[in-house]
Amino acid sequence: MITVLSFNEVRATSAGRIGLAPTMGALHDGHLALFRAARSGSDTVVASIFVNPKQFGPDDDLDRYPRDLERDQTLAESAGVDVLFVPPVGEMYPASPRTQVSLGGLTEHFEGARRPGHFEGVALVVAKLLIGIRPTRAYFGRKDAQQLSVVQQLSDDLSIPVEIVPVSTVREPDGLALSSRNQFLSGDERAAAVALSRGLFAAASEVEGGERDGARLEQLVKQELAGHSSLQVEYVGLADSATASTLAGLTTDTFLAVAARIGKTRLIDNVAFSVGDDSVIVDRGELLTGPSVLEEA
Ligand code: PAJ
Repeated sequence: MITVLSFNEVRATSAGRIGLAPTMGALHDGHLALFRAARSGSDTVVASIFVNPKQFGPDDDLDRYPRDLERDQTLAESAGVDVLFVPPVGEMYPASPRTQVSLGGLTEHFEGARRPGHFEGVALVVAKLLIGIRPTRAYFGRKDAQQLSVVQQLSDDLSIPVEIVPVSTVREPDGLALSSRNQFLSGDERAAAVALSRGLFAAASEVEGGERDGARLEQLVKQELAGHSSLQVEYVGLADSATASTLAGLTTDTFLAVAARIGKTRLIDNVAFSVGDDSVIVDRGELLTGPSVLEEA
């Protein structure tokens, strides 16, 4: 694996079918799942690490976002990355960009409503990565379901010739979705955090039993969250996977999303449903079985 700092070096060192997995570093098994998926479908696997200032709001955690390049290099290499792109801010934004990506209704609800400007910042940096690196495929986690909708729409609307590949959420053995922000949780907060996935899994089981009503599914998640006084719920809701608009009941491709604050840490999670005529496929993600890279490191 080589680590490079410029778009020119990425292009000079990548050949064949390029698989790209963009990240902000502080790598965990969720990121590594993207790298492994890219490895199996690409000749050159490019991973990027860039803590993108444009997607953080004034009250967000840009300054305390965890950074550890040496550790990230070891983990990326172990998961099959060929080229690790770590651009300095001046490479990504040589001048303050005047071009903005506006996303319309895609950001009206859920994360978009709570974090004004966030997805516009994500879309700008993802557009730069896709255009500057020209991957055949780009890999994004279902953990950030609305981000996936945004990226898919971005590549369609701008006719960027890339296949966007969704990767299932990787979870701790008890269900908590892996996130770079989990390391901020105290012991008590960590214990409460599992309520998010518990609630979503309870709802997922009801869906498997035939439930299609959004209010009922949301109620199940809220019930689980209500048992923890340290949790402040921001939203629980059903979304159309393509448009990230709110839904009253399950349609073809739907996700049930939750966001909550625990102390200073904000967590999000979701489960995805794909409904056919008389069947439903539920994507709860994958529970880690072996030790996580966090424990090994
Ligand atoms: P980051 O939070 O570092 O996540 C990078 C990628 O890893 C995203 O596609 C995210 O959905 C995926 N991911 C995170 N946790 C995961 C988990 N538990 N299981 C599976 N995939 C997971 O998302 C971003 O960075 C940024 O917004 C970015 C797309 C890099 C643009 O700056």
